[in-house]
Amino acid sequence: EQIEKGGYEHFMLKEIYEQPSAILDTFRGRLLANEGIIKMSGIEDNMKKFLNADRIIIVACGTSWHAGLVAEYIFEDLARIPVEVEYASEFRYRNPVITEKDIVIAISQSGETADTLAAIKLAKSKGAFVFGVCNVVGSSIARESDAGAYTHAGPEIGVASTKAFTTQITVLTLMALRLARAKGTMSSSDFRRHLIELELIPDKVKKALESDAYVNTVAEIYKDAKNCLYLGRGYNFPVALEGALKLKEISYIHAEGYPAAEMKHGPIALIDEQMPVIVIATKKGHYEKVVSNIQEIKSRSGKIIGIVTEGDESVRNLADHVIEVPDCSESLSPLLTTIPLQLLSYHIAVKLGKNVDQPRNLAKSVTVE
Ligand code: G6P
Repeated sequence: EQIEKGGYEHFMLKEIYEQPSAILDTFRGRLLANEGIIKMSGIEDNMKKFLNADRIIIVACGTSWHAGLVAEYIFEDLARIPVEVEYASEFRYRNPVITEKDIVIAISQSGETADTLAAIKLAKSKGAFVFGVCNVVGSSIARESDAGAYTHAGPEIGVASTKAFTTQITVLTLMALRLARAKGTMSSSDFRRHLIELELIPDKVKKALESDAYVNTVAEIYKDAKNCLYLGRGYNFPVALEGALKLKEISYIHAEGYPAAEMKHGPIALIDEQMPVIVIATKKGHYEKVVSNIQEIKSRSGKIIGIVTEGDESVRNLADHVIEVPDCSESLSPLLTTIPLQLLSYHIAVKLGKNVDQPRNLAKSVTVE
């Protein structure tokens, strides 16, 4: 096992550090930035279906569901296709309205999650076209799907999902860009610019990993917190949910993710000097609005950890700690902002002496209901 961990103390840390190369593996043969092309056979072979679809319904569980939420922003923003994201366990029992003009995308690392598998069987029986985004090759969901795209993240052993999440977002981004080009919702120059930006992501993830030592010192300060709040807006709202889930899963600290603007409809009541609030405040999209959310937290004495773009000044002046990630376009930012949140939960769990790779009560793959 020591050999399999490749010199890392835990599989989770190894998998966090594998993300630059895992994302490159996801690109391989698909992203041809110099030629200005994205090649994905699962899409090319079914292009008509995708172009005629009324909407995309994404079904998934856990971290994969969070990747689905990021995809909702990406598909709607870039390819202008309406998207609904569903917990597979709710979808399958809800008597959902599904037609032949729906495309159902099932996202699953293991490809074995019982609820996700049942959801796609239901969708197929109603005539929908099912596209699987799985990591494990030949898994049940991959086999049950009409078409699909593997993430090629390599084996993920840590129960808390890390590289599976970022590679799922990578595949979904490639899909959305390919469809945006085919639908003409994006100009060819914008398309090319996105491809070049995407190609830079593995190096930027590497750069984001350089915050590790600093994140470790932040973890030391907050490891005894009883509750944590994670906030983000737009593309980074699902990242806030994922950050909170990571902390819960391995450190057993209660954490909640919220859209930053919803804070005033409830969570703000919880904020005092005991409450660390992790705010994703990168310099795009809703930056100014997030800064004013941070001011609201500060005036209630909350402790603020900001995830910011390199060189940020405004948040630095307000927050107790800032963790920097490289600049990138907004739609790609979840791939970078996720990194310090993974590291933060990892270091807190290690300091608390928890079983990081196999947290209590959790399974890597939930194959029963
Ligand atoms: C379990 C795992 C999570 C995972 C979820 C969905 O809860 O502990 O890490 O996100 O199942 O699994 P899947 O294999 O379908 O992505």
